[in-house]
Amino acid sequence: MSAKSNARPPRLLVLGTGGTIAGSTASATGGSYAAGGLSLEVMLSDLAGLDLAAELIAKPVAQIGSQDMGWEVWDALHKEVRMAQDDPEIAGIIVTHGTDTAEETAYLLDLTLAAGKPIVLVGAMRPAGAVGADGMRNFANAVHVASHPDANGRGPLLVMGDTVFAAKDVRKAATSNIDAFKGYPRGPIARVTPSSLDWFGGATRIGEAARYAWPEAFPRVAILTAGAGMDAEPVRALLNIGCKGIVLAGLGQGNAPGSVLNALNQAVENGVPVVRSSRVDEGLVDRNVEVDDNAYGFVAARALGPAKARILLMVLIANGVTDLNEIQSAFDRG
Ligand code: SIN
Repeated sequence: MSAKSNARPPRLLVLGTGGTIAGSTASATGGSYAAGGLSLEVMLSDLAGLDLAAELIAKPVAQIGSQDMGWEVWDALHKEVRMAQDDPEIAGIIVTHGTDTAEETAYLLDLTLAAGKPIVLVGAMRPAGAVGADGMRNFANAVHVASHPDANGRGPLLVMGDTVFAAKDVRKAATSNIDAFKGYPRGPIARVTPSSLDWFGGATRIGEAARYAWPEAFPRVAILTAGAGMDAEPVRALLNIGCKGIVLAGLGQGNAPGSVLNALNQAVENGVPVVRSSRVDEGLVDRNVEVDDNAYGFVAARALGPAKARILLMVLIANGVTDLNEIQSAFDRG
């Protein structure tokens, strides 16, 4: 007979932002639904009966589809997470989030917060009411991770499909599968179910301070996707609307037609940093391989894909980092 523990269950703060995990559909087999339709309170009421080993404190931050994430919601979220990090009563933080931009929010928090207690982002690919809905399982897994002591000192994590990813690595790689997330260049860092959790290595960032200050606004930084035979007009258009930085989602190793590279070089000459990333998911974009970065004045995104390269460039510019060597060092670290 096992003795019943009197220890208080870990207290977790649940910050709701919307997404498909807060979506519902009237038809179990129909395809359409609206992301973010359910309030956090209603969403969490579905958890009754799951017997989760944690006390959940719910706090709605927003109720949106994550395509509408921007500085205001990020600012509110950042404040809540920071307060919870300082609150000794809170063991871990869960952020419910749309899957489309969860990797951007996770990475933004990673760059601007200390790597202390667990911060776990979680979403769903299927809304409540759809056959095979994944939201409640993902949420139960997120509770398991956020209340686990070994989740400390790893930076923000994303839990989806029984898998745990670090913010820096994770990318949405499929539009609708429930195992839609992959890690590049590093894969998952743990496997999780509601009753098991296996880490594939120890925490390496215990006690690490925030890398960058939280900014009062973000500069306009655009992603320009390269395609065969494109011309340079889109680059000029981005400069005309006052872009403060450009991320090239380039071909292969981060390449683009010569006229586009020349126009991007003009941007650099005008004080607008240009970061070369790739529209290909896997592999690094290194300096001076096919494109002469030294001559053009470009920064190579290394392991970051376009979406995260944009986040890092926004944070750097907002923090007054404009020296191209310093920007390159930040991308080398990722
Ligand atoms: C969203 O990102 O808000 C919609 C898609 C999803 O959550 O899976």
